[in-house]
Amino acid sequence: MKTVSVCFVCLGNICRSPTAEAVMRRLVDEAGLTEHLEVDSAGTGDWHIGEAPDERAQRAGGQRGYDLAPLRARQIAEEDFRRFDLIVAMDEANVVALQGICPAAERDKIRLLMEFAPQAEARVVVDPYFGGDAGFETVLDQCETACAGLLAALRPQLMVE
Ligand code: 4NP
Repeated sequence: MKTVSVCFVCLGNICRSPTAEAVMRRLVDEAGLTEHLEVDSAGTGDWHIGEAPDERAQRAGGQRGYDLAPLRARQIAEEDFRRFDLIVAMDEANVVALQGICPAAERDKIRLLMEFAPQAEARVVVDPYFGGDAGFETVLDQCETACAGLLAALRPQLMVE
């Protein structure tokens, strides 16, 4: 089976994209696809490089059984656009920032996470950093729905040799 690689991207890599990474890892593990689907995350900004996820994201995720504690923030780099098959952004500002550093040949790899949840009303995962705890629950709800859709969308690719 082929290996597919996905990198989730937000602004700081301490709230939304590490949450998406943890949610996707669990779905991939549960599907028995750990050896075939590489999952990572990064931020477009550099403020939080090396930091663990925001405590609110760790707490909200922990309540649903996701362990975000070992994750560390990093900034997306040009080489990531070659390394990953898909670069999955949380909002339009992330997409614009990614397009600014993406080699022209790799542009099609940039997608919005909520594209993979077509039934959901929201088209973006809103930044919860400056809001209350409810925002982190919404992020988790969206990540759970959209990551399931993303895994379903990737399954045909995983079946190819
Ligand atoms: P994230 O949230 O992009 O979901 O990780 C944010 C984290 C930090 C900041 C903004 C958003 N910040 O401005 O430091």
